[in-house]
Amino acid sequence: MPTPRQDPPQDSPSKNDVMQIWECRDGVRFLRAIGVNTRDTVVDFGCRVGHYTIPAALAVGPSGLVYALDKDPVPLDELRRKATRHGVRNIVTMTADSPREVDIDDGSVDVVLLYDVLHYFIRSQRRKLMRRMARLLKPRGLLSVFPKHTADDWPSREFKNLHVSDVMREIQAGGFRLENQHEATLSHDDELVQGCVWNFRKNERRTKSR
Ligand SMILES: C[S@@+](CC[C@H](N)C(=O)[O-])C[C@H]1O[C@@H](n2cnc3c(N)ncnc32)[C@H](O)[C@@H]1O
Repeated sequence: MPTPRQDPPQDSPSKNDVMQIWECRDGVRFLRAIGVNTRDTVVDFGCRVGHYTIPAALAVGPSGLVYALDKDPVPLDELRRKATRHGVRNIVTMTADSPREVDIDDGSVDVVLLYDVLHYFIRSQRRKLMRRMARLLKPRGLLSVFPKHTADDWPSREFKNLHVSDVMREIQAGGFRLENQHEATLSHDDELVQGCVWNFRKNERRTKSR
């Protein structure tokens, strides 16, 4: 006999509700905790539908700005619809495939988010991406990385043979110094997970000489 379908209890929130609470409340708290401040300019590279873009826009407030970049225009449409629904006006969406196409002034950015995106890039592309992000950042700028899909964690794409420690070494060799690791509830693929972001500051001497 087929098992009767079990509807979730009426008071349990839907996946959409959970992600909306993340975007409007818990994601904002998380970004503030890692050092995103009112009036900051943030780049969310590989933003998809904006599970970090919306909280970043709320964290920086109306005097701040968030550049949301993705190579795929489809999720950017969804992000723009969401921003309108939330009444958020400080997001600039950009379709960009390579770091060269990122049309933002050098030295104008306070925070770069590279969340669950680096595994799409081969090593030489990652190096170029790091150089471009280092140039975008202000001298005390923050680079925050959420590494997923390494050999330690659902290996996939360019990271399947790399460990988190290898990726972190690469970033440091690219002109950044590790400031801290921050464990938190994070968004990943439309769900909330426990995870760790790695926060870096620009290494002044290296990036000036490029
Ligand atoms: C797994 S999603 C992560 C989305 C978001 N950062 C998050 O954590 O919720 C990775 C996104 O990076 C984008 N992406 C991959 N390669 C890219 C590239 N070369 N340039 C810009 N975006 C890229 C993909 O289109 C995808 O939307």
